[in-house]
Amino acid sequence: MLQLNGQKVLITGASGGLGGSLAARFLDAGATVLLHTRDPHRGEALAEQFGCQFVAQDLTAPGAGEQLVREAHRMIGGLTGVINNAGVQLVKAHQELAEEEWSAVQHLNSTVPFTVTRAAAELLGEGSWITHIASIEGERPATGHAHYAVSKAAVIMHARAAALELGSRGIRVNAVSPGLIERPNLAGDWPEGVNSWLSHAPLGRLVGGDDVANACLFLASPYATAITGHNLVVDCGMQTTPGW
Ligand SMILES: NC(=O)c1ccc[n+]([C@@H]2O[C@H](COP(=O)([O-])OP(=O)(O)OC[C@H]3O[C@@H](n4cnc5c(N)ncnc54)[C@H](OP(=O)(O)O)[C@@H]3O)[C@@H](O)[C@H]2O)c1
Repeated sequence: MLQLNGQKVLITGASGGLGGSLAARFLDAGATVLLHTRDPHRGEALAEQFGCQFVAQDLTAPGAGEQLVREAHRMIGGLTGVINNAGVQLVKAHQELAEEEWSAVQHLNSTVPFTVTRAAAELLGEGSWITHIASIEGERPATGHAHYAVSKAAVIMHARAAALELGSRGIRVNAVSPGLIERPNLAGDWPEGVNSWLSHAPLGRLVGGDDVANACLFLASPYATAITGHNLVVDCGMQTTPGW
């Protein structure tokens, strides 16, 4: 296991499926972790489960990204890295999408990672990092996900653009793009989607939350200090499949 002793890490959206895997992996690696949740009750429960501190905040509120970063920095006495993991994955046909629905998804999935990054860059020092959780849909859209796919394409490009401007401050910025992540009852809730995934993915399996957390751990580690502006795809090979 890679060791991150001494690192201080903020993870947004820690109450979600992937957030739990990220928290467990970074804590196992020896990092001090500050969990962000939207709901304070979920935050309390997770903080007890993982033995760490939390901040509860609705990230769609004005100035929320900046407030979260400042609070995290104060609570754990500094910051080495941030994982922008909070996101929404609503499904709606392109022709039925209202502008407000479009904008809400862009806001949480790409504007918030920008505001968090802008605030964090004022506090992070040499050897620090920011990782956005994007999606393979940022490069290849799925039906009913135009708003989501565009938000993830934006955050992949944001990682590159921020890497360009923040490198001189010693801050690396990368994206990790998961494919379909396994979660309890996924096959029961969406059998046709899971079956289609399993029949197309070259590795013949779903992505585990731990697979994504391991990629984030690598990007945070001393083995990745020359990697910035990259989009690390974790999809069991799905992006290799031809569409014809
Ligand atoms: N699951 C997949 O197959 C998959 C694939 C590719 C990429 N991803 C990306 O991976 C990330 C995590 O996904 P997940 O599967 O863990 O999703 P999830 O279980 O729905 O978790 C999403 C997290 O974001 C938080 N969140 C949502 N709206 C928020 C708001 N307004 N303010 C603050 N926090 C908010 C949620 O809080 P609540 O618990 O309060 O709702 C939750 O903690 C997302 O960026 C997603 O797009 C997921």
